[in-house]
Amino acid sequence: MCGIVAYIGKKQASPILIGGLRRLEYRGYDSAGVAILDKNIKRIRSVGKIDNLAEKIKNQDLSGNIGIAHTRWATHGGVSEVNAHPHFSCDDDLVIVHNGIIENYRELKNELLTEHNFVSETDTEVLAHLIEKYYQGNLKEAVTEALSRVRGTYGLVAMHTKEPNKLVAARLGSPLVIGVGDKEYYIASDTSPMLAYTKNVIFLDDGEVAEITPENLQIFNLQSEAINKNVEQVDWDEAQAQKFGFPNFMLKEIYDQPIVFQDAIRGRYDLDGGTAHLGGLNMTIDEMHSIKKIILLACGTASYAAMIGKYAFERLAGISTEVEIASEFRYSDPIVGRDTLVFGITQSGETADTLAALREAKRKGAYIRGIVNVVGSTIARETDGGTYIHAGPELAVASTKAYTNMAAIMFLYALQFGRLNRTSVATGQRLLAALLEIPEKMEIILKQSDKIKTIAEKYKDNKNFFFLGRGVNVPVALEGSLKLKEISYVHSEAYPGGEMKHGPIALLSPDFPVFAIMTKNQLYEKMRSNIEEVRARKAPVILVATEGDEMAKKITEDVIYVPPTMELLEPLLNTIPLQLFAYHTAVSLGRDVDRPRNLAKSVTVE
Ligand code: F6R
Repeated sequence: MCGIVAYIGKKQASPILIGGLRRLEYRGYDSAGVAILDKNIKRIRSVGKIDNLAEKIKNQDLSGNIGIAHTRWATHGGVSEVNAHPHFSCDDDLVIVHNGIIENYRELKNELLTEHNFVSETDTEVLAHLIEKYYQGNLKEAVTEALSRVRGTYGLVAMHTKEPNKLVAARLGSPLVIGVGDKEYYIASDTSPMLAYTKNVIFLDDGEVAEITPENLQIFNLQSEAINKNVEQVDWDEAQAQKFGFPNFMLKEIYDQPIVFQDAIRGRYDLDGGTAHLGGLNMTIDEMHSIKKIILLACGTASYAAMIGKYAFERLAGISTEVEIASEFRYSDPIVGRDTLVFGITQSGETADTLAALREAKRKGAYIRGIVNVVGSTIARETDGGTYIHAGPELAVASTKAYTNMAAIMFLYALQFGRLNRTSVATGQRLLAALLEIPEKMEIILKQSDKIKTIAEKYKDNKNFFFLGRGVNVPVALEGSLKLKEISYVHSEAYPGGEMKHGPIALLSPDFPVFAIMTKNQLYEKMRSNIEEVRARKAPVILVATEGDEMAKKITEDVIYVPPTMELLEPLLNTIPLQLFAYHTAVSLGRDVDRPRNLAKSVTVE
């Protein structure tokens, strides 16, 4: 939550900062602000999206080569200009941006109130005054001392008029990356704001403080001991983060799926051996044989991808697999041990609940691995191995291509484990052949976008929807329902088809459409019966059906046909019509699909 960008060097800072904020807007967009240091500090803030800030800045002189900026997802204090970052200390000499939560801010505020003048309701402002209290001519020392008083999480950048050629950054629990240029440095919550300028980056770790001038970068721990860090190379490029003619990132990312799916599996399988080789697993054959239980930890869409993974691990590898919602797992009393393999599945690699749950599993002695999209993210770095899903930057708040690629990687892991026990070479080869056909089958579905748009427009005024699936298509129904809720704000519920009759069917009526996945698999007849139960209650039906299924047309005129594939792989195809349905519904209702209300992409708070 919240995005930070900062720059120090020889270029004009403000265009870099505003461009960077646009890249980070997915992290929150309640308000935004920028501060430039040029003798004095000039600060401009605005409520709402970055466009509002950019508009406000247009006619102002904001020249200067050092600056910090922030886009906010409100936690402490309402959405207002006065609560927007950057925040000043009393004398306007010190200014900071902060991502995270200062848990003991009330206590600190009470202590500072007599001598410091507070203007906002934020926890961040407390940090500004605390640093001011300790400032005696050395910003890095004051920040370090202030942080020793703080409980909570932070990624922060500070600057001070008395040290006009310096930025100080610190991290504990909220990500910060430093981009290394030629006598210039970029600091941000992730690498996207710096990709246009440099691919050389340093990932700050928890408990590290960086002192940065155009000529020099020094990193210390909280005991002020110097630390040597490696400069790493990131391989995402700026072009991948562009819209390429699509009206928004979400549609582009839906259409990215056939290509990035190939990126996910390329070079990671062996057709002859009918197996996969994900080296990042980092386990010996004996260790793999010792695994009796797999736990997939995730939140939201990633947890639905994990449900697809559960089917794969159990069917291919015969290993009992549980999907655990990370926010619950961390406070439960999980039964994990040395024979448990725990995967944290996450696009951002920064989700606080998933991170905390993984740490809990690690404390209990399990193997912990990551299935992660963002390179160098906290979860990628804290796990003892794992695999990048190679979906490329996912900038729309609603996740689409990361979901499919997470599932792709879990199929490969399941195959790798399965070939050690119950999966034959022939089954492995069949699965791989089917996986390789997925991208062209995805293309066939994407070509039906206009048809799906027509269906979405027909139903756009309905206030409620059901999504039904059975077996491998239960996660598909859950994901379709979540997509519709989060970007169109239309209420929907998802159920396994057979569960309707146990209660939810009471809700059905002619204005409660049911979107059902009825593809030709072992549960086809069962699903058909469930749909008959729906029709008997006169609820309209929209179907995802397998190409050539004439029966589907007899049930409803609103059928979206998908190519056949192996049952286990069906979610990779069947989710796409639901993504497009949610997308077109949201567009026809005039929603901002990339930045839906109340949400942020990277959920770094509990
Ligand atoms: C929904 C969505 C969220 C995320 C969830 C986990 O479209 O994007 O439900 O899936 O917040 O995020 P990551 O994958 O970054 O851990």
